[in-house]
Amino acid sequence: MISQGYLSELFSLDGRVAVVTGGSSGIGRAIAGALARAGASVVILARKKSELAATVDELAADGCRAAWVSADLSTRDGVRAAAEQAAEVFGEPDILVNSAGINLRPPMGELSEETWDATMAVNLEAPYLLGRRFGPGMAERGFGRIIHISSQQAHRAFVQSGAYGVSKGALESLARSQAEAWSPHGVTCNTLVPGFVMTPLNARLSTDPEKVAALAARTMVGRNGLAEDFAGAAVFLAGRASGYVTGQAIFVDGGFSVH
Ligand SMILES: NC(=O)c1ccc[n+]([C@@H]2O[C@H](COP(=O)([O-])OP(=O)(O)OC[C@H]3O[C@@H](n4cnc5c(N)ncnc54)[C@H](OP(=O)(O)O)[C@@H]3O)[C@@H](O)[C@H]2O)c1
Repeated sequence: MISQGYLSELFSLDGRVAVVTGGSSGIGRAIAGALARAGASVVILARKKSELAATVDELAADGCRAAWVSADLSTRDGVRAAAEQAAEVFGEPDILVNSAGINLRPPMGELSEETWDATMAVNLEAPYLLGRRFGPGMAERGFGRIIHISSQQAHRAFVQSGAYGVSKGALESLARSQAEAWSPHGVTCNTLVPGFVMTPLNARLSTDPEKVAALAARTMVGRNGLAEDFAGAAVFLAGRASGYVTGQAIFVDGGFSVH
């Protein structure tokens, strides 16, 4: 009994509202599930309605409070509309997770302006605009948690990093800028840094068993990441326990980055 209360004090998200972009797939889906099971009311944003509905149905079946908004985060108007719709469901969010991302991977010499713009729009501008929409309100209320999902490619080139690596490097800088602005008001801003995670984003690479094994061997744990590996770190960063952790890039990569 005593330990339950202690754990709740540190980690429970009861009464919190979370918005999770990319919450219908991969890492975002696992994080949305973790936040919801830890007590938060969660709104997930992405484009495909069937995957959004399936995710919310699964959470509802587990007794969680969850909802979805279908939104295209590749345009500024799309982001703005999505933010308003998301805030209408359970109220203004206490927690914002930016997991929606794209990795188009053309060779650097063939990287078009369109691919550059599309990458920056989803991976960097949407997190910036959502932060600008929700961050000041969090600061006014004295509590907030902004969690970005960046990439090892913020730190090293890897399989045609191109615009993707640039967008993720900037995303970590955005977290630091947001942390500087809002941490004095109880809003922490951090990034989780995945290594290689077996999700639909990596579907093509994941079909090559030799590459998959070689990547697993580069970790210390000895396997590639799973979306579920992000659950604990996300609950920690979303809750009270992490109140003194801000502006950080936290690697959830099985030791890939230090091996
Ligand atoms: N998997 C890895 O190895 C890895 C490694 C490093 C970093 N990451 C990062 O982790 C995050 C999650 O990746 P993941 O592997 O979980 O990918 P994923 O399974 O492909 O999920 C991506 C999510 O983003 C949504 N999304 C994409 N474009 C969107 C748009 N224009 N508007 C709204 N939603 C959009 C997708 O839904 P819809 O398609 O329905 O819109 C989906 O829910 C990404 O930021 C990625 O860069 C992943």
